Amino acid sequence: MSQGQQWMHADEDGVRPPTDLRTDIPHPARMYDYFLGGKDNFPADREAAEQALRISPEFRTGALANRAFLQRAVRHVAREGVRQFLDIGTGIPTAGSTHQIAAEVAPDVRVAYLDNDPIVLVHGRALLAAAGRGNATVIQADLRDPEKILADEEVRAVLDFDRPIALMLVSVLHFLGDDQDPVGIVRRLTEALPSGSRLVLSHATGDFATPEQVDRARALYANSTAPLVPRTREQVAAFFEGLDLEEPGLVTTPLWRPDGPLQDGDDRAPGYAAVGVKP
Ligand SMILES: C[S@@+](CC[C@H](N)C(=O)[O-])C[C@H]1O[C@@H](n2cnc3c(N)ncnc32)[C@H](O)[C@@H]1O
Repeated sequence: MSQGQQWMHADEDGVRPPTDLRTDIPHPARMYDYFLGGKDNFPADREAAEQALRISPEFRTGALANRAFLQRAVRHVAREGVRQFLDIGTGIPTAGSTHQIAAEVAPDVRVAYLDNDPIVLVHGRALLAAAGRGNATVIQADLRDPEKILADEEVRAVLDFDRPIALMLVSVLHFLGDDQDPVGIVRRLTEALPSGSRLVLSHATGDFATPEQVDRARALYANSTAPLVPRTREQVAAFFEGLDLEEPGLVTTPLWRPDGPLQDGDDRAPGYAAVGVKP
């Protein structure tokens, strides 16, 4: 038994076994929550997040820009008629999660949320229970095992793989090393989706940071539950192979279909984003 905090949580199936949250180790989900101004984080997460902000304040501005991209992209694909979302690397649900944004466009959307961090499960189930569970579910799953995700009964119960699905890989692939074949994982997932499906993706980059900032950021995340692997624009473009990019293509996150005035430096933001369509 680890020294991490244990929570009991319940959903409509009854009380579940204790969840080991390992609050003594920084978790990317909880650090991200801290950057976004959320309250679902612990001292180890806050300390690591503050260290990250000392490396660059862009950890926070980048997180906010990323979340805003997610929301614009969900609205966009829902307006284009996509009604199903497979959101992997969900993060701790805060206001403006995928199902809330999509439901503003179409109340009949269906969403499967998947994350490998147990705290996301705890909060996600509570959020969905409060909101009326409807057509959304939260599942503990690991992006590194795409076959298991595709075969998961709960995923299949919510999503119809004969109709277009928006696969959301927003700010998650940079937690996979090259040795885990992230390009192959994305290809395996998109292969399973029908024509007209979307890939909504964002990814951290060090293209506009100094080598020293990149090294320090990598070293910091090496002490968390997942490594940080920033990638170049060319490396991020490889995730979209075989898909047609929607306008404006692969750009820094604030530049993807902005809904307000741009700020100085938005073209040098620490993340790239795009939406691809499966032909
Ligand atoms: C930075 S948050 C992004 C949250 C949300 N997608 C967003 O963009 O607002 C990254 C999330 O990916 C999750 N994650 C990291 N590695 C993962 C993996 N191998 N499988 C599933 N989820 C993972 C983390 O637990 C965290 O919740």
